[in-house]
Amino acid sequence: MKINNRIAKLGEYHFKKIDDEKKEFLRSGKKIIDLGIGDPDLPVHPDILKELVDSLSVKDFNKYPPYDGLEELKKQIIKYYKNTYSVKLDLDEVLVLIGSKEGISNIIPAVCNFGDGIIMTDPSYPVYETAANLWGAVPYKIPLKEKNKFLPELNHISDRDMLKSKIFIINYPNNPTGAVANEEFYKDIVKFCADRDIVLCNDSAYNEIIEENRDPISILQYDRDKKNCIEFGTMSKTYNMTGFRIGYAVGNRGVIKALLTIKSNLDSGQFKPIQYAAIKALNLDRGYINSIRHIYDERRKSAEVILKNKNIEFFKTTGTFYIWCKVPKNYTTYEFCSEVLRKHGIVVTPGYSFGNLGYEYFRIALTKDKFIIEEGLNKFDIYNL
Ligand SMILES: Cc1ncc(COP(=O)(O)O)c(C=O)c1O
Repeated sequence: MKINNRIAKLGEYHFKKIDDEKKEFLRSGKKIIDLGIGDPDLPVHPDILKELVDSLSVKDFNKYPPYDGLEELKKQIIKYYKNTYSVKLDLDEVLVLIGSKEGISNIIPAVCNFGDGIIMTDPSYPVYETAANLWGAVPYKIPLKEKNKFLPELNHISDRDMLKSKIFIINYPNNPTGAVANEEFYKDIVKFCADRDIVLCNDSAYNEIIEENRDPISILQYDRDKKNCIEFGTMSKTYNMTGFRIGYAVGNRGVIKALLTIKSNLDSGQFKPIQYAAIKALNLDRGYINSIRHIYDERRKSAEVILKNKNIEFFKTTGTFYIWCKVPKNYTTYEFCSEVLRKHGIVVTPGYSFGNLGYEYFRIALTKDKFIIEEGLNKFDIYNL
């Protein structure tokens, strides 16, 4: 049977090899400590669950929701941006999504013609590259280096990449490196893209997963007129709602309109009770967010102590629930991840899943209880491998 030949371009699904080994390991009845997935283990706040259930009695709860999202939810997102970032948004600058992944993919046909370029980083969340390939756009990858704190060097981007590109996608706090960007970087990149008429997309999935009491940053603080910026957000990580599939895009109204055109032709709005649950989530006080941050801070600190004792190098960070570690010498990332799984039953993610520059790294997800993380990492003895 003939299928889209762009699918062939996607190459091997990198998580698959380790996934297969994990399944085999589980089949043999052995215990696994899974520090691989970026899916929080924490419970959903009871108020969110109650709202989800109560909304089943709202009139027309079962009907098609509006394509662009419930107005109440859009207003709640506007309130969140005002209170958190002092950024003012109008209703037509907000679009509710079925998870931010939906928007990250659909922004490509919304902005790009076949063959247009998208600047992205290596390493990065793999969806940017796969979506670009699927939609017939060309990914231009720029390196993230540890010596630059995993921020891209804008003056090293080639003219060819810039001329052909319509989108530049960044993601801070960053998956997989954990890097957090500063104000100076945001100012520079907003100007860089505005000067070249490139749409700057900030994937802010981990905006609130930063150290306790720090202020989150929005790209729109540096593009108050929303000249060329779009930001994607999600309830998945901050509110432990990955399975709810609810997120949003905010920013330039022309791009939001184009995104809505794609969306309304491909799918519909998210189930209304899930949208009501999202309103409830965004209405929780900052104390709740700080309690989540506190948990990840504790996990990060104790993981770092163990990694240091085990002589495993890692990038010290203040954001996301990931730790980006160097694989010990004489191992490829796959060999290392496979070995810690087979010998110790610990699942970590090979760095190449995020791009070629991940070959010397592996990623630990702090999405398990602190004591489970400690138990896993304590077994993690490079001298025994
Ligand atoms: C960087 C990044 N962006 C976006 C997403 C997708 O989030 P959502 O659940 O909103 O689709 C993820 C999920 O792992 C992610 O790591």
